[in-house]
Amino acid sequence: MKEKSFTTKAVHAGRYTPARGVVPPIYQTATYAFETAREMQDIFEGKSEGFVYSRVGNPTQKVFEEKMAVLEGGESAKAFASGMGAINAAVLSIVKSGDHVISDRTIYGSTYDLFTEIFPRLGINVSMIDLSKTDELEENLQDNTKLIFCETPTNPTMKLVDIKKISQYHPTTMVDNTYMTPYLQNPLELGSDVVVHSATKYICGHCDTLGGVIISDAEFIERTHQLLKDFGAAMSPFNAWLLLRGIKTLTLRMDRHTANAEKVADFLEEHPSIAKVYYPGLKDHPQHALAKSQMRGFGGMIAFEMHSYDEAEALMRNLKLCTLAVSLGCVETLIQHPASMTHAAVPKEKRESLGLTDELVRISVGIEDIDDIKSDLSQALD
Ligand SMILES: Cc1ncc(COP(=O)(O)O)c(C=O)c1O
Repeated sequence: MKEKSFTTKAVHAGRYTPARGVVPPIYQTATYAFETAREMQDIFEGKSEGFVYSRVGNPTQKVFEEKMAVLEGGESAKAFASGMGAINAAVLSIVKSGDHVISDRTIYGSTYDLFTEIFPRLGINVSMIDLSKTDELEENLQDNTKLIFCETPTNPTMKLVDIKKISQYHPTTMVDNTYMTPYLQNPLELGSDVVVHSATKYICGHCDTLGGVIISDAEFIERTHQLLKDFGAAMSPFNAWLLLRGIKTLTLRMDRHTANAEKVADFLEEHPSIAKVYYPGLKDHPQHALAKSQMRGFGGMIAFEMHSYDEAEALMRNLKLCTLAVSLGCVETLIQHPASMTHAAVPKEKRESLGLTDELVRISVGIEDIDDIKSDLSQALD
């Protein structure tokens, strides 16, 4: 039988169906019973299969991990309570005090905070650079550089990083694939070593749970398991179940998000109140060719600049269908102001230098009828 398509794998991969349920159960237990103490020890040491304690592993969470590993094309995956939990564990599985990290400087606000505030306090030195420029990367590489980290497209400015290019260098490369999902981009296939996701976003799809996941080879995931065990940022069985339900429709949703976003980007580009639109699907996006080569679709995220902060504020205040909220990847269209909301943690001077201006607005285009989205934007812009 030929290999199943991504869409089929998104529905079927990682089946665990005791009592022949088509849908895996929510395995709502904190602990598990044993016949003998030895039995538990064998599971703990990996000599036999089973579960010991749900902070360290749970059947529903395991189905989610198996599905994500299949979809990203990795050997194994580890689930966490949130995207930040996954990013923390993934980075700290690689670096220790005295090591150096290179990160793209346009990244989600809390990851930026982690790299510029928290890790330096632990003796981990991080260079925040523009990873779309190979010469900047080469200038900043050091003997103790252990990790290169990026998001692509970046949150929120929609700049791309060439995954193949950065993966040619010796440090471990890690890509936050939240914006694209494994349906539209597979960093491991492009040479990256580790992929992380905020599963809270498109993987979930319905804005009703938090989750995070790391996908890589089996040896790396085993290392992250130690951090899960000792940090304790475990995914709850119920959240794993909601995520499993969400993933089944991932491809349908992403196709619709993308189709709608392409039309919204065209609409915004032609509107006189909009100064600039950032969407990799637009032919005038400076990295449109790279987008076509490393992504299978342009996704549902758009950033745009208005002519002034007051106009941006008035637009968001006057929308009736699109919801003013942080987060992204939900079926509902969400709009927000990065400088005062998701990226408020980035100091103002830094924000300006990253293109995170006060006029910038980010929209996560939902799956509603495109005419309704456009008409809401249109009345608010008027
Ligand atoms: C690109 C990206 N990575 C990571 C995160 C953090 O994920 P979580 O909120 O699930 O911790 C976010 C949150 O918005 C994000 O946008």
